[in-house]
Amino acid sequence: MEVIVTPDAESMGWVATRLIADLVRRKPRCALGLATGSTPLRTYRQLIQLHREEGLDFSQVVTFNLDEYYPITPDHPQSYRYFMNENFFKHINIPLTPRDGNRRWGNTYVPDGTAEDVEAHCLWYEERIKEEGGIDLQLLGVGSNGHIAFNEPTSSLGSRTRLKTLTQKTIEDNARFFDNDMSKVPKHAITMGIGTILDARVIVLQANGEKKADAIARAIEGPITSMCPASALQLHPEVYFVIDEAAASKLKYRDYYDHVQELKKHLRAPRVEG
Ligand code: F6R
Repeated sequence: MEVIVTPDAESMGWVATRLIADLVRRKPRCALGLATGSTPLRTYRQLIQLHREEGLDFSQVVTFNLDEYYPITPDHPQSYRYFMNENFFKHINIPLTPRDGNRRWGNTYVPDGTAEDVEAHCLWYEERIKEEGGIDLQLLGVGSNGHIAFNEPTSSLGSRTRLKTLTQKTIEDNARFFDNDMSKVPKHAITMGIGTILDARVIVLQANGEKKADAIARAIEGPITSMCPASALQLHPEVYFVIDEAAASKLKYRDYYDHVQELKKHLRAPRVEG
């Protein structure tokens, strides 16, 4: 586990961007696990910049998103498919032609919010990840309650892709994106499980802002517990917590993390194996 504290959110974004860009250059047909939400937006913007300015090539990259509301159509402005197309996919050279219903758009997969047989779809999603050789690098954000993807507190630490019922708190929090009308917020979501996430070869969790400080302290230094799903990442052999000063403000071993990073500078830059 590496804890990398950056001065601000922009540099937090760049650490993840460089890890991803390095992987894409070394393994052009890599599988990236992607997240939505406000946290990874900087990284998507920075990757678009590298694509435009340095020709970073996504033509063979395959992506799997963590989650999607259910039910929701891909053209709904709050769907995660729409979010990914608008904020990232449309701006790089990843194949994006819809085929196979809504299950696959070119090389990009987002769980299908229109799937009729959800259970079968979740199994298929897991199978597709396996057939691609597994996820090389999974990008994550974290909720202020410690959730990762839509795995809310008490989610099984071994869970796989499945339908989850949203908590009342999540419905209230997300109502702002649905005309402030809780009745418009989907009641369910399809989400990769914690077990699915832990199968990724490398995990990069980003967090910024004071609102995430508690969750980050619990995830890194607390006990492993389903009450804080992000704490399960302590079991993973190669996880990077990339966080800004504010999100790091409640860590007790901060001096040690800084010391390790200082010494690492003299060894090598972090390198993600594909
Ligand atoms: C999004 C996701 C969520 C977010 C988390 C943080 O695909 O899986 O777990 O990562 O809710 O959201 P933001 O980044 O908006 O604070």
